[in-house]
Amino acid sequence: MMVKRAIRLQPKMVHRGPLVLVNREHPLQHAIHSSYLASVEGVARASTEEACMRLERTCLRQLKALLAACGGAEAIGIVSGYRTRMEQQRIYDRSYAANGPIFTASYVARPGESEHQTGLAVDVGEMDAGVDYICPSFPEDGVFAEFRRRAAEFGFIQRYREGKEHLTHIACEPWHFRYIGVPHAIIMDQYGMCLEEYTEYMRQFRPDGPHLFKKYKDHLIEMFTVEVGEEGAEIAVRTEPGAKVEISGNNVNGCVVTIYHECKGPGGASGPEHGTGLGFGKEQAVR
Ligand code: DAL
Ligand code: ZN
Repeated sequence: MMVKRAIRLQPKMVHRGPLVLVNREHPLQHAIHSSYLASVEGVARASTEEACMRLERTCLRQLKALLAACGGAEAIGIVSGYRTRMEQQRIYDRSYAANGPIFTASYVARPGESEHQTGLAVDVGEMDAGVDYICPSFPEDGVFAEFRRRAAEFGFIQRYREGKEHLTHIACEPWHFRYIGVPHAIIMDQYGMCLEEYTEYMRQFRPDGPHLFKKYKDHLIEMFTVEVGEEGAEIAVRTEPGAKVEISGNNVNGCVVTIYHECKGPGGASGPEHGTGLGFGKEQAVR
């Protein structure tokens, strides 16, 4: 049985949630409330630069799960987590003075334009490597490769990849991971999209359809973007009673709605490791 649910989207919701795109063109509009942040405890720290290291709660929980799953809890440590705008300014100014404008523009976002200010970005590094705070070592092999391989399964993407510099305006950073959640991280990984591309890609799926569908584990996940103007927006979704619905702003023009439909039975489940792929065929169903 499906029920119809009305959802009201407020303008401020555009700038909040795990899918916010924060970059040079789309600065942060909303500072995360401290109640959403948790102190980093129970995870190795590869740097003492940040006296009070914090991350957004879900991001921290998923990071711990990823470290445990890849066997990296001892070899991989956190170098940098949440930063206030003032901290980002201090890091930027210090780098500018020490390394100059070209290096700084490549590796340090301007204050107000750093994902670290969302609490959803984490720099990880090799323990005992005499860590460089701005560019920590995060090798390509061993447990580090396993961390990278399984990151999407836990909702993380390597945010700044080689070949995407013209879109991100940041150099390749093998150490900077961004939490955006599942299934979005898995889709981005499968398509090799950076967050700039994914935000644009998701905008084509509108409330009046077609929507994007992705089978994952016991769910058929439905996704689309709602444009939200100054007046807000209202939509109606059809779900099973009690189905989980997540809403995240994209920090550009609206909110992404993610609906988790129960999907049990033969052929109903597919994880990233089984790789049914997303494709432009069956899984991109039309309402
Ligand atoms: N290193 C990334 C770009 C930052 O400063 O947010
Ligand atoms: Zn970073």
